Amino acid sequence: MVGLPARGKSLISGKVKRYLQWTSVKAEVFNVGKYRREGTPHPDANFFDAGNVEGEKARRAAAEAAVADMINWLQDPSNKVAILDATNSTKSRRKWIYEKLEEAKVAHLFVESKCDDEELIMANILDVKTTSPDYVGQNPEEAAKDFRDRIKMYEKVYQTIDESEKQLTYVKVTNIGHQVVINRIQDYLQSRLVYFLTNLHIKPRSIWLSRHGESEYNLEGKIGGDANLSPRGFQYAKMLPKLLRKSGLPKDAPLTIWTSTLKRTNQTAGHVVEELGWEKLQWKALDELDSGNCDGLTYAQIAEMFPEDFKARDDDKYNYRYRGGESYRDVVIRLEPIIMELERSENILIITHQAIVRCIFAYFMQVDQSQSPWMEVPLHTLMKLTPKAYGTQVEKYKANIPAVSTWRPQGSTAKHHAGEVDTVVGEDVAGDKSTVTKVEEVKVHS
Ligand code: SIN
Repeated sequence: MVGLPARGKSLISGKVKRYLQWTSVKAEVFNVGKYRREGTPHPDANFFDAGNVEGEKARRAAAEAAVADMINWLQDPSNKVAILDATNSTKSRRKWIYEKLEEAKVAHLFVESKCDDEELIMANILDVKTTSPDYVGQNPEEAAKDFRDRIKMYEKVYQTIDESEKQLTYVKVTNIGHQVVINRIQDYLQSRLVYFLTNLHIKPRSIWLSRHGESEYNLEGKIGGDANLSPRGFQYAKMLPKLLRKSGLPKDAPLTIWTSTLKRTNQTAGHVVEELGWEKLQWKALDELDSGNCDGLTYAQIAEMFPEDFKARDDDKYNYRYRGGESYRDVVIRLEPIIMELERSENILIITHQAIVRCIFAYFMQVDQSQSPWMEVPLHTLMKLTPKAYGTQVEKYKANIPAVSTWRPQGSTAKHHAGEVDTVVGEDVAGDKSTVTKVEEVKVHS
């Protein structure tokens, strides 16, 4: 990373790591500030003055330790992308990093984050003064002033990447996604990262995520197929506009609905389209995980007809591929364009299927591949995901319309089990006890 403090470098590092991990590319962030804090936990702005010999020495030592650890980490062939989260704000620092990486035969990509949007910078300063370990226990106003002084110290010596560094592979991002300049992009992974960085934005928005209403297949315990909704599923469809309103829709902000191509998600979207008039798009990529030869069977039938497959799926559900069908790993690959489009978009309501909700949720919440296929995603529950600076906030709104459970925990018998996550920990929304219950609110930091 390259850039002045408060330019969103850590935010970008965290998002890139999360995206890569989700696509099974092992990535890690090496934050030079963390290394520096080992020797100097609470420096004031003068520590960052380029003329401060002691400070310069300590900062150099922190950078050297981080780069050494990073190169060491990359010796393990399963580790793929190391992100050096630091200012790296001078040409000489970048030249040194470039030479270190060349020597270690590691490909590089400098990502410069420039920002002249005062609002964005102020939001970052506010975030730092309240969350940075550098300012723990300090008066927030004094912390903010010191942090602004620190930025001034960096500004004195800051050199943006320019023509004179054309031997470097780089991407220069201005105001998080507004303008992107690239140089010497050389491989597939680098171009994917550039595409990802081009799509990023930090406008406030939410993503609403719901499974379709209960289907006729759900009632029979069958998987796959293209069944209609059950009468209770239609009730959920009817209630969805109300549920969305209760979850707090942004005033006048555009909202688009994405469904799969299957009947049950389109039927679930029906009332939202009619009542709220939003545009609806169908995505084949949002269709349910293809269960191949097992399509239309119940878990009990699968266990009886394909006992080895039933066990293999339990042992490694993420990688298990149904005969003639898909695995969760396959689904993540076909969902990548959806994730890219989601990063570009503002408010979106996605109505899709159990496995697809799990994969999208896992991306936003960094759920491990061993856990994500087993997550319980109850029917008739709307989730609202709101990306924040350092994590995603989740709220769940449950329609009080009964539905069967379609969840089977790992190692359990071949039938659906009663849910466990429906404990009400939040408050009833807007006093309407009979219809909508806000069941959970979790904030996870990346
Ligand atoms: C820090 O010490 O907090 C950051 C060091 C840097 O990257 O300039």
